[in-house]
Amino acid sequence: MFEQLLNWYTRERRDLPWRRGVDAYGVLVSEIMLQQTRVEVVIPYYQRFMQRFPRVEQLAEASLDEVYEYWAGLGYYRRARNLQAAAQAVVALGGFPTTLEGLRDLPGVGEYTAAAVFSIAFGKPAVALDGNAIRVLSRFFALTGTLTAPRRRDLIARVLPLIPEQQAGDFTQALMELGARLCVPRGARCLVCPLASGCQALAGGLVDSVPAPAPRARREKVDLLALRIRRGDQVLLERREDDPFLAGQWVTPWFADGEGVLDRYVSEFPGTPVRVGQVSHGVTFRDLRIEVWDWETSALDCGPERRWAGPGARLPRLASLVLGL
Ligand code: ADE
Repeated sequence: MFEQLLNWYTRERRDLPWRRGVDAYGVLVSEIMLQQTRVEVVIPYYQRFMQRFPRVEQLAEASLDEVYEYWAGLGYYRRARNLQAAAQAVVALGGFPTTLEGLRDLPGVGEYTAAAVFSIAFGKPAVALDGNAIRVLSRFFALTGTLTAPRRRDLIARVLPLIPEQQAGDFTQALMELGARLCVPRGARCLVCPLASGCQALAGGLVDSVPAPAPRARREKVDLLALRIRRGDQVLLERREDDPFLAGQWVTPWFADGEGVLDRYVSEFPGTPVRVGQVSHGVTFRDLRIEVWDWETSALDCGPERRWAGPGARLPRLASLVLGL
C-alpha cells in the first residue's frame, strides 16, 4: 500500500536543502527549525545556519549570542538555545545517540523530532507524528474523535510494521509531503492521491471531518508597553535571560506591567516620551497588544545587557514591529 506513497514521493518531492544527503546534525537542525515554522520561511535560515555552523562541533563551540543572531526572526528562541545544548551533548557523547530513547534525551528533542532524526538520518523505522502525518494517517485509518495519547501510541504501533524496509526516511518525509501537498486540511486532492485506494476516510466520506479539529485554545490578551529610545539613527536594545517570550534576544525594552517604567527609563535616558501608537502581534496562544512610547535621548552610556543598534540590525519580530510603527 505504502509503495504507491513512496513512488509518488520519489516523483513529486520538493528539492529542499535538508533533503540533499544531510547527516543527523543537518536533519536535527532542519526539524527543530521546522517546528511551528513553514518550509518556505525555514529554507534561507537553514542555509545561512548551516553555512556558519556546518558541523555539530562548530555549533557546540559557538557563543550563544552568535547562535541567536542566526536565529533572529525565526521566533521561539528557546529552540535555538536547546539546539545548541543538544549539539554540546552530542559532542560530549562523542557522536549522535543511535537509539530512539538516546535521541529523545537530547535537550529540546521530543518524541516527534527523535523519530524524524532516527528515520530520516539513520534509516531506521520510526513514526514521526507531526500535524501533517497525523492528518494523513487519521484519514487513512478513518480515526474519528480526538487523538488521545493512548490512541496516538496505538497508531504508532499500527504503522510501524508497515514501514518499508530500507526506506524508513523516505516514508517519514513522504507522509509529511503528502500532508503538505495533497492531504491538506481543507480541499484534499483525493483524486490524485497515491493512498486513495486504501483510504478509509475517503471510502466512508469522512475526509472533511477527520481528523477531528483540536478544541480551540482560548487566546489570552496581553497588554504590553514597549520603548523606542533613539539616539540619532540608533535605537536602544536590551535583553533579558528570564524573558518569557524572547529569552536572550536583543529587543526594544518591553514590559508586561508598565507601572513606573517611563519614569525609570527617562531618568536614565533623558528625553520626552511620546505615545506613538499600538501594534498587535500574535504568539502561540497570546494576542499581544503593545503600546509604544518613543523619544530621542542624549544619553550615551547604556550599561550592560544593553546596546545601541544601527538601522541594519537583524531583530526579532516583536522589536521590528515596535521600530516600524
Ligand atoms: N516539516 C517537518 N519536517 C519536514 C521535512 N523533513 N520536510 C518537509 N517538511 C517538514
